[in-house]
Amino acid sequence: MVADANQNEFPGQTFSASGSIAKVGELLKAVVGYFALPLALPLIFLQECLAWFRLTTGLSNRSLEGKVVLITGASCGIGESLATYFYRAGCRLILAARRKQELERVRDSLVRMQTNGKVYVPAVLELDLADLTSIPSKANAALAIYDTVDILVNNAGIFNRGSVLDTIMEVDQQVMNVNYFGALALTKVIGNHMLKQSAGHIVFMSSVVGKISIPNSAAYAASKHALQALADSLRAEVASKGIKVTVISPSFVKTDITVNAFTTSGEKYGRMTKEVASGYTPEYVAERTFKAVVNEESDVVIAPLTHKALIYIRTFLSSIFFIIMKFYARRFRKEQ
Ligand SMILES: NC(=O)c1ccc[n+]([C@@H]2O[C@H](COP(=O)([O-])OP(=O)(O)OC[C@H]3O[C@@H](n4cnc5c(N)ncnc54)[C@H](OP(=O)(O)O)[C@@H]3O)[C@@H](O)[C@H]2O)c1
Repeated sequence: MVADANQNEFPGQTFSASGSIAKVGELLKAVVGYFALPLALPLIFLQECLAWFRLTTGLSNRSLEGKVVLITGASCGIGESLATYFYRAGCRLILAARRKQELERVRDSLVRMQTNGKVYVPAVLELDLADLTSIPSKANAALAIYDTVDILVNNAGIFNRGSVLDTIMEVDQQVMNVNYFGALALTKVIGNHMLKQSAGHIVFMSSVVGKISIPNSAAYAASKHALQALADSLRAEVASKGIKVTVISPSFVKTDITVNAFTTSGEKYGRMTKEVASGYTPEYVAERTFKAVVNEESDVVIAPLTHKALIYIRTFLSSIFFIIMKFYARRFRKEQ
């Protein structure tokens, strides 16, 4: 009988050999991780110093006066604060979201505001990012208002709370549609317009969970990871075409994001979590985002050092990160 060279006579043995190789690989990764983290710490410090230096001394004097800025999710929260900063800078705003009445409230409060320089009455655009087929015509309607859009701020977003296995598919899909596919569809139309004018700036409001994933908000984290990936690809593709791409990744911000969040069954969560209640003010995040646009920064993380460290721990010491997240998930279950 001729033995088949491809046939595995001792599958168990082969498996255990590759198992030991995998274990050695894991060990090597851990060792590299332990060395890499201390090496990374000075890099984190350097990055923080550079960001601080750039912000304090390197602030460009570039004026945004007269620029047409389309802000999604401008009816409340961070979007409303962003509108204030761009309005004060003399930009021509298009405020977009689903609730027209809230957009008009934001517009009216801006118009009543005391300002020094020239300002323009903002336009209002009803837009449902979950309605993907309507987005090209809505984007064209936005372009028709001032014949252009110079800065697109993809800010609108929704959050979800609950475990992966308990969450109904409709919630996952809705979160991906609003946070990712909606922003993508809008970016395609406005981005192609920017290509024609060889200028423009596209901003994505991501989150720290676009860089690390936390338990009990998987759809949200996945949508923000997708946004980060989209932005990184797009930035490289349009770099030579005069278009800038910025990703903003804040930690918790005190807005109604969790009040409006979906539960596992698609109901409204209806409460502000304590992490969000003790988060940054939307004004702070808006100011930092505005500066990032003026400075044409690519990637800005607005987070306390502990959250920034978690990003590095996920990269260099993933096993430690997984343990931390296991505790986090357990705490969440207890709180429920
Ligand atoms: N708050 C935080 O802790 C935090 C942290 C990191 C990142 N972020 C990000 O910051 C962005 C703004 O969130 P926020 O904190 O300001 O929350 P928010 O107060 O709940 O505001 C969300 C905005 O998105 C709009 N929106 C929701 N669904 C929409 C849809 N289907 N179509 C169009 N617009 C829609 C809402 O307007 P309508 O309801 O009128 O449509 C609202 O203006 C989001 O992308 C969020 O992921 C927030």
